[in-house]
Parts: sequence; C-alpha cells; structure tokens
Amino acid sequence: MSMEQVNVNIGLLGCGTVGTSLLELLYEQREAILQRTGLEIDVTKVSVRDLSKSRNVPIEQSLFTDDPKQVVESAEVDVVIEVMGGIDPSRELISKALELGKSVVTANKELLAAHGEELYALAEQSGVDLLFEAAVAGAIPIIRPLRESLVGEPITRIMGIVNGTTNFILTKMSDEGMPYAEALEEAQKLGYAESDPTADVEGHDAAAKAAIIASLAFGGRVSSSDVYVEGITEITPEDLQFAHRLGHCIKLLAIAEKQDSNGEESLCVRVHPSMVPLSHPLANVQESFNAIFVEGDSVGDLMFYGRGAGGQPTASAVLGDLIDASCNIKRSSSASIGEFRSIRISPVADLETRYFLEVEVDDRPGVLAQVAAVLGEHNVSIQSMEQEGLESEARLIFITHKALESDFQAAIDALDELQIVRSIGTVLRVIGID
Ligand SMILES: NC(=O)c1ccc[n+]([C@@H]2O[C@H](COP(=O)([O-])OP(=O)(O)OC[C@H]3O[C@@H](n4cnc5c(N)ncnc54)[C@H](OP(=O)(O)O)[C@@H]3O)[C@@H](O)[C@H]2O)c1
Repeated sequence: MSMEQVNVNIGLLGCGTVGTSLLELLYEQREAILQRTGLEIDVTKVSVRDLSKSRNVPIEQSLFTDDPKQVVESAEVDVVIEVMGGIDPSRELISKALELGKSVVTANKELLAAHGEELYALAEQSGVDLLFEAAVAGAIPIIRPLRESLVGEPITRIMGIVNGTTNFILTKMSDEGMPYAEALEEAQKLGYAESDPTADVEGHDAAAKAAIIASLAFGGRVSSSDVYVEGITEITPEDLQFAHRLGHCIKLLAIAEKQDSNGEESLCVRVHPSMVPLSHPLANVQESFNAIFVEGDSVGDLMFYGRGAGGQPTASAVLGDLIDASCNIKRSSSASIGEFRSIRISPVADLETRYFLEVEVDDRPGVLAQVAAVLGEHNVSIQSMEQEGLESEARLIFITHKALESDFQAAIDALDELQIVRSIGTVLRVIGID
C-alpha cells in the first residue's frame, strides 16, 4: 500500500541563525521526509526585518517580505514557524495564526515563559498545534518527553543546566582558573555569549526555561516572574577551587521542586549557582553542553543531554515539531497540552537545603566556637568544616546539614554582626544526592 502524499505549506517568521539552519536542513531532508511520512513540505513565505540583507538560503528572493502579518494571514501558509524571538510582535502574530486555525512551531522561550498559558489555551480552542521543543535546551528532546512520555509520572524534582553560555564560563573558570571576566570574553569571542550577556549571566534566560519546564512537569501555572533568580557574576575561580576540594563543582542550575508544607503542595522554582557533588551526572556536563535531570517516584532518575543552542541543533528540534504538526494536519488531529492548574509557588525563604558558607574571621582562639554557636542558635547545623590560616585572619569553610533558607539567612545576618567576623564570603546552596 503506498503512503498518501500531503502537501504542507509553511511560513517563517524570522530568518536569522535558527531560520537559516532550518531552511538548509529542511531542503537537505526533503526527500527523506517525503519517503518516511508522505509529507511534501514547501516554504511559501518568509518574513525578515531587513529585506536588503544578503541571505545564503535555498529559497527564492520573491518569497521574502518585511511584513510578518503576510506570513500569518497568507492562505498559502498552513504552519507558521516563529523564529524571530522577543515578546512583541511575536505574541500577537502567534495568537493571530492560532485564531486562523494554523499550527505554530516556536523556539521562543521568553514569550512562552511570560504568556504560555494564553497561547496554549488559544491552540486548544482552535484545535491546532503549538509546539515548542526548541524553546528549552535547543536540540535536547525534553518538552515532548514531559508532555507525553512522563505525563503520568509523579515527578518530584527537575534540575537542569539549561544555559550553555554560563556553563561554558564556569567550565573555563574551573578547568583553567580563568577569572569570570576573561572567561566571559572568551565565550563572546567564540560566539557562545552575546555582546550584552546580561540575560545569560544574570540567570534570566535559564529562568524562562525553568518556568516552561516546571509548568509541563508539574501541570501547574508557572511564569518567569515566579522564578527566584541569581546569576553567576559573583563566582570566583577560588570558589570553584574550594568546591573541588570539597568534592563538588559549581553549576548554574534551574530547579523546579515539589514541596509539601503541612500537607499543602507547592512548587519552588529557582535558578542559582549550586554546588553539585562530583559524583552527580550533572557534574560531568562541561563547556556549552546542556542537560536536564528528572527525578520521579516511579521512573527513578533520567538525564537528557546534548547541545542546548546553535543554529543547527535548534533547527533540528524545530524540524521535528514541524513534521509532527504536519502529520497532525494529515490526520486532522492536534496534540493537546491539557489544562494547567493553579499551584502555590513557595518563596525561596521556605526552601530547605544544604549550604556552603565561607567566613573570614580574626585568627584567635575561641572564634570557631562563636561562629558555630551563632549557626546553632539559628537551627543551622554543621556537616563539615575546613579552616585555613591567612595572614592575620582565618578562613572558615562550612557545609551545613539541611536548613531552612530563612533560618540560614538570619544566621548570616547575625554572623555579620559579630566583631570577630571580618567578612562573609561566598554562600552557595548545595545539591544533595537524595
Ligand atoms: N540561536 C540559538 O542558538 C537559539 C537556540 C534556542 C532558541 N532560540 C530562539 O530562536 C529564536 C530565533 O533566534 P535566532 O538566534 O535565530 O535570532 P536571530 O538570528 O536574531 O534572527 C531573528 C530573525 O527574526 C527577524 N526579526 C527580528 N525581529 C523582527 C521584527 N520585529 N519584525 C520582523 N522580523 C524580525 C530578523 O530579521 P533580520 O534578519 O532582517 O534582522 C531575523 O531574521 C529566538 O526566540 C531564540 O530565543 C535560538
């Protein structure tokens, strides 16, 4: 029996890094896609901002427009691919496409983290697809596993290295002892970091991805404003050396974790530099690679690893979604994302975790006892301690047992008041293998 052939016309909003790679991949794979799926995919419109830019893409110049509405509204476009980024005008354009009954594939984490719920609802109402595998961790299939394979799994925690730029910087600082500014400069030279690196190094890019992952994993409404964020700009090569000596590395983790406070379920969603035991699989994720570690009651531990960005890897994820959406058109069906319930987001003050704490103190007898007493008074107990003599002062390094964040922060404030404390150094949350 020969496979029924169906022609699907697509329109692209944007033809930059991802759009160009997508067109190359699509034309390279066109025959193979037709043979495997019966889909004949044609590009019928592409919108860009600047029509005069020269573009090395395998499509005719006449298909380009600088009016993105023409892509969305064209009767010759069945599926809209949004790879232009930003919230406006992408939000309005995607909404319009969905209202017109067109499936949409997007790589736009920023938009979905802020307005995902309204767009998912529009897709549901129109009975079309809104697919976004490329929005989180580029080429790594994590959205589809969360939407489909793991939809019945009682997930307890997800931790991800979802920003390649910061992972590259931390790897350079750790392996080569480079200061932060030098590692950032190298990342910019190699094209891993933008000229304005704020969104990456301050953790906002990872926070958008954390919100999307948390919504899907826990079926709750989470937006980027619910995510507690700390970046990596304060981390020093010395911190990384200390971490290593204590059997840990430092990674910028996006974490979404289920909590149960007095029978009430809540979610803590956060992005911050974390000390990760060297024996944990996430500790081996180096350079600009990404990984997402999923912990579930039934499934146990799973790790998804690969290239989190770059034109070609991201285009691969977009193409997978495009074929999926096109197959659904062929079958007259669509993928449902289901309904997100409202879920309590717990403040970071309610978090219970272990901490790494560095304190510089006067080098005289009785100092350690005073510091330990203050920690104890605030319900923070010490798991391990190291002491190092400096010139006229000493450095104390603690790893604590699990403590409540609000207690720990109160302990830090109290330590800062002690006369023998010269300064509070690095403070990091420590991820346990538990
Ligand atoms: N690059 C990656 O590695 C990567 C990875 C994962 C996800 N993503 C996501 O993929 C999306 C695209 O990223 P990219 O790196 O391909 O971006 P990019 O290289 O900057 O390309 C953006 C494209 O959109 C067009 N465009 C931008 N604003 C526009 C506007 N207001 N009106 C009309 N056209 C507009 C630009 O036109 P001109 O060409 O004329 O300037 C360009 O063709 C973003 O949401 C990004 O977060 C990217």
